[in-house]
Amino acid sequence: MAIDKTLYDRLGGKPTLEKVHRIFYDKAFAHPWLSKFFTDKPQEVLENQQTDFMSQLMGGPKIYGGKSPKSAHQHMLITDELFELRSQLLSDAIREAGIDDGLREEWLEADRTLKRAVVKKTESECTQAYPNQPILNFPKC
Ligand code: HEM
Repeated sequence: MAIDKTLYDRLGGKPTLEKVHRIFYDKAFAHPWLSKFFTDKPQEVLENQQTDFMSQLMGGPKIYGGKSPKSAHQHMLITDELFELRSQLLSDAIREAGIDDGLREEWLEADRTLKRAVVKKTESECTQAYPNQPILNFPKC
């Protein structure tokens, strides 16, 4: 029965994750505030890392070999407001990829499990992974 399948399988596997992440990062890179955080890594690399990470989280292949979300974002002041903005863009991207509302909700729920690992209240909660790593804190715009 379809309901026994993993979220990854019910979404249609890797091609669906790749499609959504392409649409999502197009939006993130075009957004005046969110794009400020994305200066170091090429969009395609981020898309692939996000696809591998979410694949694992949704019960698909375990191929993600990057940092944990907590350490990858330790130097970024990701406020609650910024996280919610990202969630909205992700939701829009999932919808634009033609995925039904039930699966979209499940995807957003899985994504939301990482909220506590990345969100901070103040810059004092940011830490550097190595000396001189810039702290990323951009006012809303
Ligand atoms: C507003 C919220 C977020 C912002 C601004 C953000 C921004 C970024 C940036 C700039 C990078 C590249 C870091 C680098 O240069 O190495 C990155 C990496 C990454 N992000 Fe996020 N992110 C956010 C939320 C999330 C969430 C909720 C997840 C998980 C569902 C996530 C998963 C990842 C992963 C897997 C990587 C790759 C880590 C690595 O191997 O280096 N991000 N993110």
